[in-house]
Amino acid sequence: MKTIIEPFRIKSVEPIRMSSKKSREFYLEAAHHNLFFLQASDVIIDLLTDSGTGAMSSEQWAGVMRGDESYAGSVSFQRFENSVRKITGFEFIMPTHQGRAAERVLFSILCKKGDVVPNNTHFDTTRANIEFQGTEARDLVIKEAYHPEAFHPFKGNMDLEALKQTISDIGVDRIPLIMVTITNNSGGGQPVSMENIREISKIARKHKIPFYIDACRFAENAYFIKMREDGYRRKSIKSIVNEMFSYADGCTMSAKKDGIANIGGFLCTNDEKLAQQEKNLLILTEGFPTYGGLAGRDLEAVAIGLNEAMNEDYLEYRIKSTKYLGDYLSQNDVPIIKPPGGHAIYIDAKAFLPHIPQEQYPGQALVCELYLEGGIRSVEIGSVMFGKTDPKTNKEVFAPMELVRLAIPRRTYTQSHIDYVIESIVNVYKKRDKIKGLKMTYQPEYLRHFTAHFKSL
Ligand code: F0G
Repeated sequence: MKTIIEPFRIKSVEPIRMSSKKSREFYLEAAHHNLFFLQASDVIIDLLTDSGTGAMSSEQWAGVMRGDESYAGSVSFQRFENSVRKITGFEFIMPTHQGRAAERVLFSILCKKGDVVPNNTHFDTTRANIEFQGTEARDLVIKEAYHPEAFHPFKGNMDLEALKQTISDIGVDRIPLIMVTITNNSGGGQPVSMENIREISKIARKHKIPFYIDACRFAENAYFIKMREDGYRRKSIKSIVNEMFSYADGCTMSAKKDGIANIGGFLCTNDEKLAQQEKNLLILTEGFPTYGGLAGRDLEAVAIGLNEAMNEDYLEYRIKSTKYLGDYLSQNDVPIIKPPGGHAIYIDAKAFLPHIPQEQYPGQALVCELYLEGGIRSVEIGSVMFGKTDPKTNKEVFAPMELVRLAIPRRTYTQSHIDYVIESIVNVYKKRDKIKGLKMTYQPEYLRHFTAHFKSL
């Protein structure tokens, strides 16, 4: 069959409140042109993030009812631990309330001032948690990643020569770990090949540097390997996933992505001494190591969701429905990062709105326009998120790319919702010349995209 359907039936629904363009103008004004300030009920299609926004299955809800809420030694923890161990093969498994908590525990033990942590591209919380230790977070993704139009089957790969050079320049003692993010979120949700993971591992082992996977979208990455890498077409997703993790010494995970849970995460390692230190820190801030800041019912939802995320019918629908959105936008000349990634489509706002200079935030202007047109909430990944005002010169330092991310929540929207998104974006594209830039009227000291205010010019 050519037609791919959503491989699920809908048992429970959540109404969407429709709104008029006139009312959205009012909401946008009240939100200071920053969509983080909108009430979710004033959004029609919410593509702000794929994190914690997916729909749980009937099995997961059944698991929620089974949740054992014991403080210590919960049976739900055993089920969670078994599930994570079967998938990752790691020996020590610590639950955390979400991905960034795992990052904080790991980096506060391993990193110190003056160290450098290489990654393909650090996600913003990963970067922030590393920098918080006085450590440099260094991005070493291949050059193709910075060219939206350049095609590469594994555009999330790490530049291996740059990694070797970094090790030789910095010295092994100042590199506490090497990371790779699968798929590469900040770089367009692009996959990393098995070959690249294997080669990073070889380099790390040669220098005895621990190698960690930021595993948020591990199942989606495995599906790309199955489809695009020689020798994997006949392998099961589970065996591909096992192989990916076998090259690493540990991982951090946000179960809000490929755990298809609304909250949760974990930290894994094979190093017993490190695990002990991590557990002690976990007790201090997250909770006892058999719940790590989660309820027993959350552990159940994650244990089941991780396996559902590896189902091949689900993954085919997931990756192809993201591609469906990307392909239709491309056919209508809307500039996007190519090829489409796993969890999101990224519009190139610089190319979409060439008449708006970077100092007027073309990505943010486009995010606002998509909301006005169709009530769609997307997120700017450009100079609002990654740019900053230099305190010495008071001048703006811009991000290398001005992107707008349309992240697709898992199992939440149907094809007609996506058709509506396509129609809205194409309508906006047709009148792009009339779109105006923005002026930032307020910004906080850190992570300004969450709370900045803007005015339309
Ligand atoms: N690493 C990656 C690659 C991520 O995409 C995220 C979260 C995290 C770590 C942190 O996990 O949110 O559970 O603490 N990404 C979300 C997003 C927020 O919208 O892409 P967390």
